[in-house]
Amino acid sequence: MADDRRTLLLTGASRGIGHATVRKFNAEGWRVITCSRQPFPEQCPWGGGQENHVVLDLSDPADTINAVGIIQEKLDGRLDALVNNAGISPKGPEGERLNTLDTGLMDWGKVFHVNFFASVVLARGLKDELAAAKGAVVNVTSIAGSRVHPFAGAAYATSKAALAALTREMAHDFGPMGVRVNAIAPGEVETAILSPGTDKIVEKLPMQRLGQPEEVASAIYFLCSDQSSYISGAEIEVNGAQHV
Ligand SMILES: NC(=O)c1ccc[n+]([C@@H]2O[C@H](COP(=O)([O-])OP(=O)(O)OC[C@H]3O[C@@H](n4cnc5c(N)ncnc54)[C@H](OP(=O)(O)O)[C@@H]3O)[C@@H](O)[C@H]2O)c1
Repeated sequence: MADDRRTLLLTGASRGIGHATVRKFNAEGWRVITCSRQPFPEQCPWGGGQENHVVLDLSDPADTINAVGIIQEKLDGRLDALVNNAGISPKGPEGERLNTLDTGLMDWGKVFHVNFFASVVLARGLKDELAAAKGAVVNVTSIAGSRVHPFAGAAYATSKAALAALTREMAHDFGPMGVRVNAIAPGEVETAILSPGTDKIVEKLPMQRLGQPEEVASAIYFLCSDQSSYISGAEIEVNGAQHV
């Protein structure tokens, strides 16, 4: 029997915001295809997740380009949503912030491959499938892309600023295909990516609490749903008013 569910492809589903997002889409009746370095997480399954998981290291350009074909074989010629969520934020040996003076070029490049170039490769590689479904792309940026952050390093911040610019460029180029492209920029969300000391930032936030991964997942879902059918090229802040 043909599977007439909408299909999501999301990078970095094994934990955090990505994991909450695939659970949300699954609960809403979507088919979910995922990729990350780890195998499918047995401890937190969602329907059909095992056979729809692609083990992939997005820091490896050849691996990422090769994965496009593997993903296409899992699609029926249509992709309703691509969420570029996987991201890394490396720290120094003592957990310190890496600034523009002390970030090694190889490390900087690796951050750009995961946080930025992988989004280009997947979106371009799957443009026909996205166009066939009149689908949506959501890039997960960060508040660190628009201001210096006490913990997020220079490589991370510049990769997220580039991803925000890519969202604008892609909205322009994919729009004629009927594909919408948006970004969400989280603030401090309770996941493994946070650094010790985040509680000091949170005390000063207007909403005075961390965000939960499910609260970010809802914003991503909105941008992939018909509720946002005329929104493209936008970056939505999901940060409890941290940016004001
Ligand atoms: N949490 C926050 O406060 C916050 C704030 C602003 C922006 N963000 C952004 O939100 C997104 C999700 O963050 P998170 O907090 O949920 O992070 P997380 O808990 O650290 O999860 C990151 C995900 O990315 C995957 N990943 C990392 N490196 C990868 C690679 N080389 N290849 C493939 N997959 C890779 C990981 O899976 P594997 O380990 O299995 O590969 C994991 O599923 C990121 O883009 C992050 O920059 C988060």
